[in-house]
Amino acid sequence: MPNQNNQILKNTNAQILDEFNASIMFDKELYAQDIRGSIAHSQMLCKQGILTKEEQEAIENGLLQVKDEIESGKFEFSLAFEDIHMAVESRLTEIVGEPGKRLHTARSRNDQVATDFRLYVQDKNESIKEQLKELISVFIDVANKHTTTLIPGMTHLQHAQPLNFGYHMLAYANMFKRDYERFESSYERNNYSPLGSAALAGTPHNIDRFLTSQTLGFISPTANAMDSVSDRDFALEILFNISTSMMHVSRIAEELILWSSYEFQFVRMSDEYATTSSIMPQKKNPDVPELLRGKTGRVYGNLISLFTVMKGLPLAYNKDTQEDKEGVFDSVKTIEISLKILTEVIKTMIVNVDKMEAACKIGHLSATDLADFLVQKQNMPFRTAYYITKDVVSKANSLNKDISELSLDEIRSANDELKDISEDIVMYLDLRNSMNARNSFGGTSTIQTVEQIKVFEQWLKKA
Ligand code: ARG
Repeated sequence: MPNQNNQILKNTNAQILDEFNASIMFDKELYAQDIRGSIAHSQMLCKQGILTKEEQEAIENGLLQVKDEIESGKFEFSLAFEDIHMAVESRLTEIVGEPGKRLHTARSRNDQVATDFRLYVQDKNESIKEQLKELISVFIDVANKHTTTLIPGMTHLQHAQPLNFGYHMLAYANMFKRDYERFESSYERNNYSPLGSAALAGTPHNIDRFLTSQTLGFISPTANAMDSVSDRDFALEILFNISTSMMHVSRIAEELILWSSYEFQFVRMSDEYATTSSIMPQKKNPDVPELLRGKTGRVYGNLISLFTVMKGLPLAYNKDTQEDKEGVFDSVKTIEISLKILTEVIKTMIVNVDKMEAACKIGHLSATDLADFLVQKQNMPFRTAYYITKDVVSKANSLNKDISELSLDEIRSANDELKDISEDIVMYLDLRNSMNARNSFGGTSTIQTVEQIKVFEQWLKKA
């Protein structure tokens, strides 16, 4: 009996070890890149006379059949094969026999996984860029419709100066454009092929790394085999780029949550994107933007996690690096769905122009314009103008009015220095005028906003 128990324990241990060691249950995500890489490798081996034409054809057709089997759900992913690379190779050999066993000539799983993962990351750098572009174009559409819609601009979440809502949308368009450029520059910086680096030191076989690099769409082979099999900077970069972009997603999400609250009522999210409460029948909850905000946490986690895995690893390949994938897959999926949903939310939100404009009449948004007027028209030092303006604000408060609603007499009586102030001050305190007065480059005036939109429209055509 004790013997039998030992046997069970051994089997269990073996199974636990397989589960612990294997990556196939998640790296199967890389099947397409693995097959693409293997086809390129086999073509190169053939060109170099290492595989015969017949062998190469058998391998290529076999690999395409494996791909079909995976895509039609017929492929059996078994822990016994450890990872997707072993699983594909062993199924290939089942299908084509001898030639399958020759495929791994002059490569190691170390350069194979580095190549496959890099191809995956490069594909995602491209597709996320497309999604960002779509999102930016939606911000531009909304901006175009609201270049004269007033909204209170805030600092410290306190009313500060009047903006137009289009301008506010453009602020986000700028953030997501920088994100786009980050994915683009990561793509360019990492567009080098590790394939042919072999285990860590290159190979004695007469391979042509330039050929595989070209076939796979890279610029050229990586320069140092040892670095190539242990480098995961490309994975860290996409995790950082996703984190930054999700930080931007969470900022607009936060504003949407605020704006759709009873206190603001600046926007109403389309019913599809608001959920009801299970207990309070009157409620419409912003679950969708809350989740967009919340999901930012996990992508930061994935970034820190890989940084921690990579820290202190001796050269060259170490199995620790197998931990690089799940976080990247998770972050990629998270940003893909988040950008898709955010794009729809922005596209379908209903902007409550009246509420935005009414809110501008709270908080004396044009107070700075009075100070600027005194500086510009009366050559007053700014600090003096600042204190005089404070008196006008107090006056408005005592009359229960906004500064933009004061009559000329009311302004003149607020402070001695203002008793002869010219009557055009009333116009300067007008909110729309205040917004349009900020006509410096990059400012909020409708003229500047329209200019900024034009620049974006040009960029969208070229990007
Ligand atoms: N499954 C491994 C990974 O994802 C690749 C295999 C390299 N393993 C090895 N023992 N050399 O990193």
